[in-house]
Amino acid sequence: MSAKSSDVVDVPGSIAPGIVEQRDDGNTSLMLVFPSPIFRFNNLDIDPLNVVRAALENRQFFPNFADGNYTSEDFMLQEEEVFAPLVEVIEARAAAALRTVLRYRLEDLKINTMWCNVHNPEPAASHFLHEHANSFFSGTYYAEVADDKSAIVFDTPLRTKVISPEIEEQNYLNTMRHAVPVNTGDLLIWPSELRHGILPYESRQRRITVSFNMMPKGKLGGPTWNYVY
Ligand SMILES: [Fe+2]
Repeated sequence: MSAKSSDVVDVPGSIAPGIVEQRDDGNTSLMLVFPSPIFRFNNLDIDPLNVVRAALENRQFFPNFADGNYTSEDFMLQEEEVFAPLVEVIEARAAAALRTVLRYRLEDLKINTMWCNVHNPEPAASHFLHEHANSFFSGTYYAEVADDKSAIVFDTPLRTKVISPEIEEQNYLNTMRHAVPVNTGDLLIWPSELRHGILPYESRQRRITVSFNMMPKGKLGGPTWNYVY
């Protein structure tokens, strides 16, 4: 249900909530504001096998905290020719989504760091919750994962953990985390400040991903927009 005219208040910088639910009692309305935009893109014009090859060939890795979890020593893969097709597709799809859905006036959206990850199935690899500092949007391309068995977990950005009553029934309003399923060839992007992680990987298949951070080009720093990045 969308906002009605009585939800619109003339306050500079404020708009009506995107979703207003009238509850069953008829005397309560629920306004959902400030959602977190997580985009999942399918059908990229990219062969995941080429990305797997590029990720593994002549690549040095280091153990990244958890058992079985390895990350490339190089965090500037976006500069390698072999990753150029992937970089082009990611930047184009992500910029289009941020322009059309979030309505950002972006001159451009550029990957400024990119690395690859290998999770071995035994022992089952995981990755602790973390966020990406000094970045606008972050994302992952899933070059090789066990379809229907892979997910990335997002932690709530709300302060609902401070006081946390027992939950009678879990729903999308009280949940502390969302697991987003992904398949080989998918691309996910999310605001960089969202905490995320990977649960122990319940599959015998290895998991190869390419992760990245992005920054916008153009005017930043509302409301004056006087800073050009
Ligand atoms: Fe991450």
